[in-house]
Amino acid sequence: MRIGVFDSGIGGLTVLRTLADALPGHDLVYLGDTARVPYGTRSPQTVIRYSLRVASYLYEQDVGAIVIACNTATTWAMDALQRAGQAVGVPVFGVVTPGVSAALKVHKTGAIAILGTEGTIAGGAYQRGLAAAHAGVTVIPVACPLLVPLAEEGWVTGDVPRGVAEHYLGGLRGQVDTAILGCTHYPLLSSVIAEALPDVTLVDSAQETANVVLKELGPGDDTNRSIRFLVTDHVERFKRVGATFFGTEPTHVTWVDLPEPSGEFAAPSRTDTA
Ligand code: DGL
Repeated sequence: MRIGVFDSGIGGLTVLRTLADALPGHDLVYLGDTARVPYGTRSPQTVIRYSLRVASYLYEQDVGAIVIACNTATTWAMDALQRAGQAVGVPVFGVVTPGVSAALKVHKTGAIAILGTEGTIAGGAYQRGLAAAHAGVTVIPVACPLLVPLAEEGWVTGDVPRGVAEHYLGGLRGQVDTAILGCTHYPLLSSVIAEALPDVTLVDSAQETANVVLKELGPGDDTNRSIRFLVTDHVERFKRVGATFFGTEPTHVTWVDLPEPSGEFAAPSRTDTA
């Protein structure tokens, strides 16, 4: 099977890397919407529109399943993408439910922090997922918007990222025993996050997401599988910065333009006014 994986840009490569290991016999097509990153500060309507556009394009590439490797897109667009996916027979997986399961496996006291973009925190999908799965849970959500640009710069160690992590997270010390890295960029900053939160277990949803996809689709049997990359802007920057996220420099990177979708993937019309 060919599996489509997408993110607003580069961060989802941390998820792709785990999927590539867990599902060695499936072709993978990664689409980074680098022309529209970040999604984390955008309105829900815009994130849904962008996500449907990406999913429609992946569907045109004959994917048999879609993995949303972005917490913000999963938070706002999961329902819309699953509806569109169901209509065309393509299962859609997100990172939030696996992140919730992973946290519930390791927490000790039920006091769990969620670190994410403004959109992920405002959307509340993690908070709802944790509350629904575990009655005694105390959830502390923290938006950490500056961590995304730091990771994008590759500026993940030293005084500046340490200070930013301390600014957002210092107040959590002693309040939680587990923190969900609810943004695909944050695993790169796990050393400074761990410094700000000593004795707190950091949860990255990538492995649990890969486990869920593996359970549904199996490891695949293509002995010569391919991994392709599509980006909506800046191929060279994606290759350069993407190397930090993916472990090796992405090869076979192609620029694509995404047409406005129609049919099942058409975005709902907007009703909000200024
Ligand atoms: N990949 C996004 C996420 O996991 C963060 C980057 C963005 O704001 O688009 O939420």
